[in-house]
Amino acid sequence: MSLLFTNDGVHLASSEGVLKFHLGTAYIRLQALVRGEIDPLLRAAEAVAGDRVLDTTFGLGRDARVMARAVGVTGQVVGIESSRALFHLATQGLKQLDPDVEPTRSSGQIRLILADAQSYLQTCSANDFDTVLIDPMFDTPTTSDRGFELLRVVANPTPLTEAWVHAARRVARRWVVIKASDSQPWFSKQGLEWVPSNSNAGWYRAPATT
Ligand SMILES: C[S@@+](CC[C@H](N)C(=O)[O-])C[C@H]1O[C@@H](n2cnc3c(N)ncnc32)[C@H](O)[C@@H]1O
Repeated sequence: MSLLFTNDGVHLASSEGVLKFHLGTAYIRLQALVRGEIDPLLRAAEAVAGDRVLDTTFGLGRDARVMARAVGVTGQVVGIESSRALFHLATQGLKQLDPDVEPTRSSGQIRLILADAQSYLQTCSANDFDTVLIDPMFDTPTTSDRGFELLRVVANPTPLTEAWVHAARRVARRWVVIKASDSQPWFSKQGLEWVPSNSNAGWYRAPATT
């Protein structure tokens, strides 16, 4: 695995191919927002301008960038990524955002931190963020996106656990929003409910603990 410096940016090269920090499906989502359409993540989070959002599984930052648009310049998105390779790819990528797609005057700031999600949550105070997002790697891919196949090579494969959700509910002021392929037996114990959407993956949310 190595960082590849090219004329069109910094990428991650592995035996499987070259992983680029690009918007992928988030491009379509951002365009839909401009047309006034509703994004399933933003609906689940009830995101509004000025929100502080913690994305505990930053990855290629697609959800984070959709969130950043919704929370606007008065809001903030903090992204956590534990894969050192992905952290460096994303750090470089965030410096090269396309201003036509993500104008800085309308998108909130994204701050990226290299850390394990659950360890970071322990350092947060209660109600530190309006929404906490968890989108761990699925065992079975739900997308044919080549970017996500390459991401799998370097991503942290830690599955979603009840302890992770519990810790996130303490830190959230409003909602913990989760992307999951299927519901698990403990979801109802954590107050997790499915949020209807047309997306391939399932969106679930749990209320913050007070
Ligand atoms: C499915 S991807 C997230 C994709 C992201 N939502 C997006 O829109 O691009 C999961 C990401 O979370 C990271 N991850 C998994 N477990 C983690 C943990 N415990 N702490 C921090 N990052 C984690 C993986 O390395 C991977 O990059």
